[in-house]
Amino acid sequence: MSLKIRNVCENDLDAILAINNATSPGILPLDSKRLCWFFERAVYFRVAEVDGIVGGFIIGLRENAYHDSSNFLWFRDHYPAFVYIDRVVIAPTLRGHGLGRVFYADVQSYAELQVPMVACEVFLEPRNDAVVLFHGTFGFHEVAQRRMPGNNRRVSLLAKELCSFQFVHDTYLEQGGLPRLAWLENAKRTCRQDPPVSLPQAAEHV
Ligand SMILES: CC(C)(COP(=O)(O)OP(=O)(O)OC[C@H]1O[C@@H](n2cnc3c(N)ncnc32)[C@H](O)[C@@H]1OP(=O)(O)O)[C@@H](O)C(=O)NCCC(=O)NCCS
Repeated sequence: MSLKIRNVCENDLDAILAINNATSPGILPLDSKRLCWFFERAVYFRVAEVDGIVGGFIIGLRENAYHDSSNFLWFRDHYPAFVYIDRVVIAPTLRGHGLGRVFYADVQSYAELQVPMVACEVFLEPRNDAVVLFHGTFGFHEVAQRRMPGNNRRVSLLAKELCSFQFVHDTYLEQGGLPRLAWLENAKRTCRQDPPVSLPQAAEHV
């Protein structure tokens, strides 16, 4: 089996939509318009290509994204800087082989160069213990529970502090910035920038 973790490209979007929408109710559905929004705006959006076929994806946003998810807005109200994982989804036949772990190692490597924390949520209704374990054993801990407006489902809001960020901050960010290394440049996505505005809480996208 060959595995490549890479930045998303436009040709991947149909496969991503199919994987996402085969994962109800664990993941909120997406339509192409909303997926295109993520494609254009997410600072971190990667796919796992398994034997040349998209087998999973992960989407992350910074705290300044113009995003209407009430869970994202909750984090923005409580923390100054973070990478928010909107979703991570592995195709059903590929689950349990470590791809989720590979994605989380990758998003952590991306985030710890910029922010002190990664954030996400898991549904507690219905509760999926594989998903709860997946996060808990990677070092996430619960910072709150809430009900999502719109679908009334209880979610657990999770955070993981990134202890290596302090080193990056003191050694590089405070001293003029990260070094210009190819692997750091490759991790960057070109995406549309959001205006720095404060959003009212929007209706939940269900
Ligand atoms: C959650 C998800 C991303 C995990 O990806 P994965 O590739 O299946 O997970 P991994 O194989 O990397 O497993 C990592 C750890 O998660 C836990 N885990 C994963 N599947 C599990 C299962 N079926 N039962 C129990 N624990 C499980 C284990 O702790 C595992 O560690 P281990 O292999 O050392 O025991 C995947 O199951 C998925 O896409 N689920 C549907 C979408 C979803 O709910 N996403 C999360 C919210 S956005």
